[in-house]
Amino acid sequence: MTNNENKGFTSKVGLIMAAAGGAVGLGNIWKFPYIAGENGGGAFLIVYLLCVLLFGMPLLMTEFLIGKRSGKSAYGAFRALDGSKKWDWLSWLCVLTALLIMAFYFIVTGWCFNYFAEALTNAFQGMGTAALEAHFTKVTTNPIRMVGFSLLPVVLTATVLWFGVKEGIERLSKILMPLLLVMMLLMVGRVLMLDNSNIGMQFFFRCDFSKITPKVIMEAMGQCFFSLSIGMGALITYGAYMPKEQNVTATSIQVIVLDTLVAILAGLIIFPAVFSFGFDPAEGPELVFVVLPAILEKMSLSWLSSILFFGLLCIAAVTSTISLMEVAVAFVCEASNDKLNRHKSVLIISAIVTVLVVACVYYKQLFSIFDNVTSCVLMPIGALGMALFVGWNLPKNGQKGVLNADKGIKHFAGKVYIAVLRFIVPAAIILIFLNSLGII
Ligand code: TRP
Repeated sequence: MTNNENKGFTSKVGLIMAAAGGAVGLGNIWKFPYIAGENGGGAFLIVYLLCVLLFGMPLLMTEFLIGKRSGKSAYGAFRALDGSKKWDWLSWLCVLTALLIMAFYFIVTGWCFNYFAEALTNAFQGMGTAALEAHFTKVTTNPIRMVGFSLLPVVLTATVLWFGVKEGIERLSKILMPLLLVMMLLMVGRVLMLDNSNIGMQFFFRCDFSKITPKVIMEAMGQCFFSLSIGMGALITYGAYMPKEQNVTATSIQVIVLDTLVAILAGLIIFPAVFSFGFDPAEGPELVFVVLPAILEKMSLSWLSSILFFGLLCIAAVTSTISLMEVAVAFVCEASNDKLNRHKSVLIISAIVTVLVVACVYYKQLFSIFDNVTSCVLMPIGALGMALFVGWNLPKNGQKGVLNADKGIKHFAGKVYIAVLRFIVPAAIILIFLNSLGII
């Protein structure tokens, strides 16, 4: 299929691996702890887990099924299933979301590369709490350094997409990601031996219901979309390349369990250390970057541990940026009717992303605006659009077609799934929106 070649995907299995690889990334290790820390720890965790159940499962399945049924990526999928251009806005929303996510995601990836480079020179040795905080500020407020370190992963990602060596990277990350998990488990073990680690455990696991505010609910929903990569069409592409016999329900459950596990592990590492070392859990986006070096310092073979951990973190981040950029590149290829080939698309998208990244480095507010708006506005609207598309817009036989894309969904389960998409998912998203705006 020429379509296949255009997207540079050579193996279907590699794509499925990428779905999990794309889901697990900085969203779990960087964003989850900082958002949970800002939103009351345990109160956030419980709302987050409810969101994963409520939105994660139906929406992950929806994106996979739309892709599997249509055989197209986010650009062509809605057109193919609907037979009209009415839903083109949703395709555009998907690519806009991908671009804005990349703008700040590459910067945080740049922080990871910076910390990896510094780990090589053992730069964090002997730094206390205050020194680590000052160090983060010093490093990240140096615009030249930040532009350099953020554009490094942009070039790396573009190179991978240019040469179509995605598969090699995925095979590599299949070996390295379990290593990251092992490393994280070791860090949990170490952190739990620190003084006062129990205060952090209480912070993370004890739910004070009075802390569940509209803002907490909104941010938990946004974090759920971001972490599972739903609501921006990324998973539609994966669905398009799923082998026929692949079970969508089982794949969705696997991705959700793995993704949630990594997020909880990250919380288990960060919060005990936060309280033991005297950091502030509501520190914000810098949270893990000031806490992690302090933890790694306490590990045996601390120098080696730091290099290994930050190295693996960079790889986890880059597997996500590869999938993110792929969404935009595939979009340009398809939207231009292949007039712009893969190489040209990679160049165009890299140029746009470079401008956005540089803008975010120089205007710090843009960084947080993009971070918040993508999770809390664009991805929920994208998800709402997809739920309405399948639940309300497709005629009965269209819905049947979508369901038949997977043999795993039996008659009754299919009815439940459609009902959840028609009523529960849209109602929940709209209620959370209205609630956070103070309207209800
Ligand atoms: N889920 C990724 C993470 O947790 C971030 C992400 C959001 C993503 N949307 C995506 C990754 C689309 C790949 C494709 O870090």
